[in-house]
Amino acid sequence: MAAEKTLILIKPDGVKRRLSGEVIKRLEQKGINIKGLKLMKLSKEKAEKHYSVHKDKPFFNDLVSYITSGPIIAILAEGNSAISVVRGLVGATDGSKASPGTIRGDFSISIDKNIIHASDSVESFNHEYPIFFNSSEILDFTYGDENLF
Ligand code: TYD
Repeated sequence: MAAEKTLILIKPDGVKRRLSGEVIKRLEQKGINIKGLKLMKLSKEKAEKHYSVHKDKPFFNDLVSYITSGPIIAILAEGNSAISVVRGLVGATDGSKASPGTIRGDFSISIDKNIIHASDSVESFNHEYPIFFNSSEILDFTYGDENLF
């Protein structure tokens, strides 16, 4: 099994709408292992770094002010093909187009208040995770039920 890591953010709308438990439930029931988790308020500098790939897009400033507008929950998770598996759980960027059964498809109806972020590649993960976690905050342990998934 190819264990892969991914970075997940429950965005301010997800936290404020009390959807954090729902998101974590879906990760857990799929067999994605949480190795790091924190409630935090993102600084403007960190938000700009996280979304630097979008710095020339017309929505960049709104995106940065939205992601810094309230607490987020950062999750570092691991699992078999975790990047594509979690992107599948998350659904398409625009909640009004995302398939029912996905997190965005079930809980979002817009492209900007779309509840959750998840790394879309290994390169993105490597760029993103140090913005949110240092090495002592990523726990090296096994849940012990991995053979059941
Ligand atoms: P993107 O990386 O394209 O999507 P995803 O979150 O699915 O990986 O875009 C990052 C975020 O930017 C997206 O979650 C919401 C916001 N965004 C807009 O506000 N307007 C847009 O037109 C796009 C494409 C994204």
